[in-house]
Amino acid sequence: MKNPATEMYRELRELGWERLWGEEVARFDAGGAEYRAGRVALVRAVGVVFSESGCASQREAVVEWLRGLLEDPNERIRRYAMAALPKVGERAVVERALAGVARGVAGERERRHVGKALAKVAGRRALEVADVLPAAMAQKIKAGAAREAGGRVLLDVDIPAGVRIHLRGRRGLEGFVRSEVEGSRLLRGRMRVVGGGSGLVALEAVGGFTLGDVFSLRCFGSLNLVLGEVARDSEAVAGVIASGRAWGMVHALTEGVPRYRLEFVGEGHRRGAVAEIAERVHALRPEMLNDARLALWALDLHSAGGRLSVELRPRLVPDPRFSYRLADVPAASHPPLAAAMALLAGRGESVWDPFCGSGVELVERARLGGVRRVYGSDLSGEALRAAEANLKAAGVKGVLRCCDFREFPRIAGIRAGGVDQIITNPPLGRRVPIPDLKEMIGDLFALAAEVLRPGGVLVLANPVGSEWRGDARLRRDVSQRVDFGGFDCRIERYRVRPSRRA
Ligand SMILES: C[S@@+](CC[C@H](N)C(=O)[O-])C[C@H]1O[C@@H](n2cnc3c(N)ncnc32)[C@H](O)[C@@H]1O
Repeated sequence: MKNPATEMYRELRELGWERLWGEEVARFDAGGAEYRAGRVALVRAVGVVFSESGCASQREAVVEWLRGLLEDPNERIRRYAMAALPKVGERAVVERALAGVARGVAGERERRHVGKALAKVAGRRALEVADVLPAAMAQKIKAGAAREAGGRVLLDVDIPAGVRIHLRGRRGLEGFVRSEVEGSRLLRGRMRVVGGGSGLVALEAVGGFTLGDVFSLRCFGSLNLVLGEVARDSEAVAGVIASGRAWGMVHALTEGVPRYRLEFVGEGHRRGAVAEIAERVHALRPEMLNDARLALWALDLHSAGGRLSVELRPRLVPDPRFSYRLADVPAASHPPLAAAMALLAGRGESVWDPFCGSGVELVERARLGGVRRVYGSDLSGEALRAAEANLKAAGVKGVLRCCDFREFPRIAGIRAGGVDQIITNPPLGRRVPIPDLKEMIGDLFALAAEVLRPGGVLVLANPVGSEWRGDARLRRDVSQRVDFGGFDCRIERYRVRPSRRA
């Protein structure tokens, strides 16, 4: 059934600012209490329409009109005016008007509305009245002001031993993460693997470390500092988040006011539970602010048996490990996955990605060291431009050509047996159907057998369900099933048999 107020609002919006202001507002102002109460949708429509149109002097007149409505005897009209003001007015003017109202408001409901409107313009004056507003609104206003003041997660601050870390990521990459940890010179003697699960490697810090140290690993998706494991109970969760230990950690690791976003991972929005926990945390630890927008930290609640693992995760955008990715293509590889493929390729001096896209595999392999020649081909000019920008940002020099991969060895002057490694995430035909996909992959295997040196490796993503078969001259020695973001692939490694030319 149609809501008459919503219908009226829609109709009024369609009128355009001249008729709205010249006719409807004039009639509203001249109308009696009952008429005005029935036309409250006009206040909303004016807010929206004048946020998008009208010149500065008209908007000033609208702000004056809305400010007048803040004193209307009708509570609904006052509320609508509060919501409309931040859309139209200059921030300082709106803040002053709403802060003035906040001080005088008696009812809880109206206080909530004024708080909601103030949170949209949160500045110094809003902060001054924050404590007369309901706690949730006060927290929003403080978070807004803190967001504006800026801040960052500190990657170079020492974290003492004893902390448990969950490295989470794509299912199937756990083995790569573990071997990265165990092979890391930076983490040797300071971090040990203590467990894991699907998409999870659990570490314990046996020595001091920094977040930056852990970010030297490239195959995990997110770094989570475990604050504790508790019953599924808001009070218990809030207790852990507001505890002295958690605060000590988050405070030391943040420049500025720590703001966090709370999420029940894999359980949908759960807004009610999130709001309840955030309010309790704020009551216990007012310095720690819940903020759904651009928070520096995430507090992830992961299901752990019947309990919840409470985990603190830095929200670093862009991920500092992959900040060379200045340009992207729609089918770009998940960078930790590309890093795992690069790791699997092992040592070699020359590497080619026949379907290089934005060049993630090439950069990841080059970063591991020992590579002298980097080759990339792609049919798409846009992808090639992305690869050029990314390789340049990563400080990697390469020969990149816009051509069919079958043509590339000739164009780039690669002789038979002249390449050590091919690492590639080929088109899978999911987004853009490719009629001759199987034939194309057959050509890739054949070409790999030609251009790779004896013992050279081809690392590729092979979709589960419609697996592509290799070439008699290649021997598969690794096949690891991995979540490719909603579907499974195998990361496979093929080695050229020494006897291939016999
Ligand atoms: C899955 S994407 C590769 C993504 C890449 N690894 C990245 O991270 O950006 C596959 C790429 O293969 C390219 N491609 C498709 N057919 C090709 C062909 N015959 N020769 C060369 N490139 C081709 C597409 O343009 C696309 O950029």
